[in-house]
Amino acid sequence: MSAYAKLQAELRAAPRTWLVTGVAGFIASNLLESLLKLDQRVIGLDNFATGHRSNLEVVNGLVSGEQWARFQFVEGDITDVSVCARVCGGVDFVLHQAALGSVPRSLAEPLATHAANVTGFLSLLNAAREAKVKRFVFASSCAVYGDSPELPKTEAMIGRMLSPYAATKWINEIYAATFGQDYSFESVGLRYFNVFGPRQDPKGAYAAVIPKWIASLLRREAVFVNGDGETSRDFVYVGDVVQANLLAATTNNSAAVNQVFNVGFGARTTLNELFNALKKHLQRGDATLTHREFRVGDVRHSVADVGKARRLLGYEPERNLEQGLALAMDWYRRTAV
Ligand SMILES: NC(=O)c1ccc[n+]([C@@H]2O[C@H](COP(=O)([O-])OP(=O)(O)OC[C@H]3O[C@@H](n4cnc5c(N)ncnc54)[C@H](O)[C@@H]3O)[C@@H](O)[C@H]2O)c1
Repeated sequence: MSAYAKLQAELRAAPRTWLVTGVAGFIASNLLESLLKLDQRVIGLDNFATGHRSNLEVVNGLVSGEQWARFQFVEGDITDVSVCARVCGGVDFVLHQAALGSVPRSLAEPLATHAANVTGFLSLLNAAREAKVKRFVFASSCAVYGDSPELPKTEAMIGRMLSPYAATKWINEIYAATFGQDYSFESVGLRYFNVFGPRQDPKGAYAAVIPKWIASLLRREAVFVNGDGETSRDFVYVGDVVQANLLAATTNNSAAVNQVFNVGFGARTTLNELFNALKKHLQRGDATLTHREFRVGDVRHSVADVGKARRLLGYEPERNLEQGLALAMDWYRRTAV
């Protein structure tokens, strides 16, 4: 039995209370769905900066009435210390996902990005410490590898930050480590690679490549790629990100606490390969890419070494790009047009 299957059985038998921030967003609404399906009690916080009420309604439709009744939603901002104190009360584990999460947005709005991603992060971290929550798991990013050229990425190597967004995530890791040193406060940082799956937002200027390209292919519009298309990424299905969060929050392995972990699938896909996969799924064999300039702040190649997460957390990614796309395509199709 996998560590995750064992954990799911344990959680069902002894439900806990979880705080999920950014709960109306893509990744956190998937955390909400999984936790409620495991009969957990969940407090969710969001200010709808980039998240949607409709994501919560979708989750409501996917769980039983009894499970939904275990969810309490608080509309509020993580930069508000009184809100942070309120939502941390009586919580066992925090899964902190709320942030402004886009490299180009951070270049356009560095102060807003700092406020949510650093001030908000520290406000919540401190509130969680004061409320004595058992563990604080937070979303970091592979962006912290910056311009480091080595592949695959292992947790010890850090490059120069290439965007304000990357800088905020790196600062998060520094604060979490400092709280571990100074207050023995337990945290785990998860460096997500390129996450995809249901409830990923296809709209807006800062949409991610998969939903954006699917929408363009379905509408028969031009599909733009920044650079030659040989830029590569590690695409990780959101279900595997949920798995990493739950394992990180509950692990009894002391070697895993106050650590950071890569959360990817562990395979490198070029944007040209991604485009071919999407064309196949959408039966758009005729479509071609339109090339644009490389984008400032973008990392050229990225692939995770997930060995540390496998070893210390028992993380076993379950879906590759093809399998994840097959599961998520329905969502992408419904929301793209
Ligand atoms: N999606 C990815 O590929 C990816 C990769 C690396 C890291 N991450 C990180 O994962 C986390 C979740 O990302 P996502 O893709 O689900 O993004 P998302 O935009 O869908 O979700 C973020 C949520 O946080 C909320 N939020 C933002 N600022 C807030 C504030 N000040 N107070 C309260 N709520 C606030 C938003 O309204 C939104 O619902 C972020 O921390 C992001 O940086 C995501």
